[in-house]
Amino acid sequence: MRVAIIGQGYVGLTIAVGAAGAGHSVVGFDVNDGLVTALNAGRSHIEGISDEQLASYVSSGAYKASSDAAVLDSCEVVVIAVPTPLDDDRNPDLSYVHAAADLIAQHVKTPALIINESTSYPGTLRKEIAARITDVDHLYASSPERVDPGNTEWGTKNTPRLIGGLTPAAVAKARDFYGSFCDSIIEVSSPEVAEAAKIFENTFRQVNIALVNEFAQISDALGISSREVIEAAATKPYGFMAFNPGPGVGGHCIPVDPSYLAHVANEVGVPATFIKRANEVNLAMPAYVVKRVVAGSGGSIRGKKVVVVGVSYKSNVADTRETPAAALIDLLREQGATVTWNDDLVGSWRGESSSPIAGADIAVVVTKHDGIDLAAITACGYVFDCTGSIAGVDGI
Ligand SMILES: NC(=O)c1ccc[n+]([C@@H]2O[C@H](COP(=O)([O-])OP(=O)(O)OC[C@H]3O[C@@H](n4cnc5c(N)ncnc54)[C@H](O)[C@@H]3O)[C@@H](O)[C@H]2O)c1
Repeated sequence: MRVAIIGQGYVGLTIAVGAAGAGHSVVGFDVNDGLVTALNAGRSHIEGISDEQLASYVSSGAYKASSDAAVLDSCEVVVIAVPTPLDDDRNPDLSYVHAAADLIAQHVKTPALIINESTSYPGTLRKEIAARITDVDHLYASSPERVDPGNTEWGTKNTPRLIGGLTPAAVAKARDFYGSFCDSIIEVSSPEVAEAAKIFENTFRQVNIALVNEFAQISDALGISSREVIEAAATKPYGFMAFNPGPGVGGHCIPVDPSYLAHVANEVGVPATFIKRANEVNLAMPAYVVKRVVAGSGGSIRGKKVVVVGVSYKSNVADTRETPAAALIDLLREQGATVTWNDDLVGSWRGESSSPIAGADIAVVVTKHDGIDLAAITACGYVFDCTGSIAGVDGI
C-alpha cells in the first residue's frame, strides 16, 4: 500500500519504519524541515530505530520523508501521529490534530483509510477529524499507539494493537494494514472504545504511580523502606501490581493523557476525582524531593553545589518532555543552591548543557541511564537517589 504518516516523531517514525519493513511504500510527512532533511539522510532521532535501519529503507525507496503536503494525495492509508499536548490551563490542545485533519481535507482527494494514532479522548476521530473532512468519502479508524520508547521487549510488532472504525469496511482495511507488521490485532466495537482504552491505560498508571508516591512519603515518615514494602507486597501472587515511587511523572503520555479523560468527564458531568488528586500528588513530588534533600543536608542547601543526574523522564531515553527534573532544578535554585545537571544523552536543554558530576557537594539522581558514573555520584558529599537503585544512600 502507499502509506503517508503525518508527524515523524516517536510514534510516526516508529510506524513508518514498521510499515516500510512490511513492504509498503511509505512517506513520512512532517512540518519540521530540519527533521525531514535528517531522516532522508538516514539519521534517526529515536532510540529504538537505528541510523542503519532508516538509511536502508531510504536507499531502497521504501521510505522517504517530506514536508510537502502534496505527497499525501493518492495514498491509500494516511496515519495521523501528531502531538496532543495540554494547553496552559492543562486542557486538551487539539490544534495539531485539527491541522492534520485540515491537511487531509486539502490534499487527499481520492478515498483513503484515515487512521488516528494520536492519543486523545473518545470522540476525537468522529468529531474532531472525520467531521472536518467533508469532500471525499474516506474510511476512518482509530488505532491508538502504545509504543514505549526504549522498551526492548515490547515494540510495534508484538504489542497487541487495538482497532476501532467508523464502519466495518474501515476496520477491515485497518486490519489489513496493521496485520502486515503487527502480530496481534484486537477489534473493538467503535473508535470511542479504542480511544478510551488508551487513555484509561495511562490513567491507570498515573493513579497507581501517585498512590505509590504518596505511600513512599507515608513510609518514610514511619521509618520504613517503601521499596522493601513494595517488594514484600509483590510476593502475593494475585491482586497486587508493583509500581515504584519517583520524583514525578514525565513524557508525552502519563502526565498528559489522564487530563484528556478528566476533560471529557467534566463535559459529561462526572467529577474525575482520582485523576485530579493523582495529578496533584505527582506534580508535588519535586517539592517533596527538595524537602528531603534540604533535611538530609543539614537543613540548608544555600550556597551548595548541587548536580541533578539524569534529566530525561526515563532511563536510556533522551526525551525531556514534562520531565520532573525541570521543577526540581527550579526549586533547588529557589533554595539558594548552585544547580547544574548531568545527562550526556540529553546534552543540551533549557539553554544549558550537561555538566560533570565531579565536584558537586550534593547529587540528586532523577534518572539513571546505563553507563552512568556511579563512582562520581557516590563521591559527592550527600546523595539523594530517586531511582531506588543506589545502595546505601538516601532516597525515595
Ligand atoms: N511518545 C510516546 O511514547 C507515545 C506513546 C504512545 C502514544 N503517543 C501519542 O502519539 C502522538 C504523537 O506523539 P509523539 O511522541 O510521536 O510526538 P512527537 O512530538 O515526538 O512527534 C510529533 C511530530 O509531529 C510533527 N507535527 C506537528 N504538527 C504537524 C502537522 N500539522 N503536520 C505534520 N507533522 C506535524 C512534529 O513536527 C513532530 O515531529 C501523541 O498523541 C502522543 O500522546 C506517544
